[in-house]
Amino acid sequence: IKNIGVLTSGGDAPGMNAAIRAVVRAAIYYDLQVTGILRGYEGLVHGDFIEMNRKSVANIIQRGGTILKTARSDAFRTKEGRQQAYEQLKKHNIDALIVIGGDGTFTGANLFTREFNFPVVGLPGTIDNDLQGTDFTIGYDTAINTVVNAVDKIRDTAESHDRLFIVEVMGRDSGLIALRSGIGVGAEAILIPEANMGVGGLVERLENGRKDKASKIIIVAEGDEVGGAFNVGEILKEKFPNYDIRVSVLGHIQRGGKPSCMDRVLASRFGVAAVEGVLNGQSGVMVGQVNREVVFTKFDQAIKHIDAQEVSPAWLKLVEILSL
Ligand code: F6P
Repeated sequence: IKNIGVLTSGGDAPGMNAAIRAVVRAAIYYDLQVTGILRGYEGLVHGDFIEMNRKSVANIIQRGGTILKTARSDAFRTKEGRQQAYEQLKKHNIDALIVIGGDGTFTGANLFTREFNFPVVGLPGTIDNDLQGTDFTIGYDTAINTVVNAVDKIRDTAESHDRLFIVEVMGRDSGLIALRSGIGVGAEAILIPEANMGVGGLVERLENGRKDKASKIIIVAEGDEVGGAFNVGEILKEKFPNYDIRVSVLGHIQRGGKPSCMDRVLASRFGVAAVEGVLNGQSGVMVGQVNREVVFTKFDQAIKHIDAQEVSPAWLKLVEILSL
């Protein structure tokens, strides 16, 4: 292995730049060349490559987003697109790929590494934290802290007006952003797809909840079966005409901003481990951290969603006990 390609793909996540920096610096440390691939698999298919050196990753560890840019590529989902990508790699003498992204990224990487027997190692970069084989993904810690900061502000105004706020957070079909941030802001209730509480359960909780506390915060995961915060708002307005209800959808602010120290460290550790993994013959795997140890998990296992497994009844009971 002489030349490693690196790309970021799918939704960006804070800490991706720290990961790119770690990959580039580790590659240079081990006397390898590094090629940056722009806009994820789109740039791979079209040969949008740049040479990288230690200076091209200077002063980026603290920056959100990704200097390599990212995309969700339709071309790479096709066999012809992946064939084109393979030819580009050969043309540029790239011997291995490091891909930073989430489940979509690893689904593509899994097909590619099998079809062309080409070495690929992945780094988990997604705010959703929905991958197996790692306790945390790069970007999750920053995102939940962004949610906590935003909802603390919402709590100020909610309390001043005695209002009930329904706050929608990201996560696609995973409730893990909602779960931890909801506990962190002291939410009165959390709606997540894994728990299946439904609006019935929420109404019951509000009916039986404290009457002397006028402000309430309900965190709704965007993937919850009720269909988003506005739907929940409509249903609650009908059930509780006396409540003054407002809805807030936090949206893409959850993807931006400076990465937290935890995300920078995780990304740095993963970047170095990925380069060392490639040199040791690892392929078709994602780097992760489980119980503080670095581990490698096969792509097809990593992309199996964490659901009830992590969102165990103990977590949900915690929410119930604390929302009294
Ligand atoms: O996977 C990260 C994520 O932010 C999800 O939480 C969300 O559902 C999705 O990406 C939004 O994607 P887009 O930026 O393409 O609208």
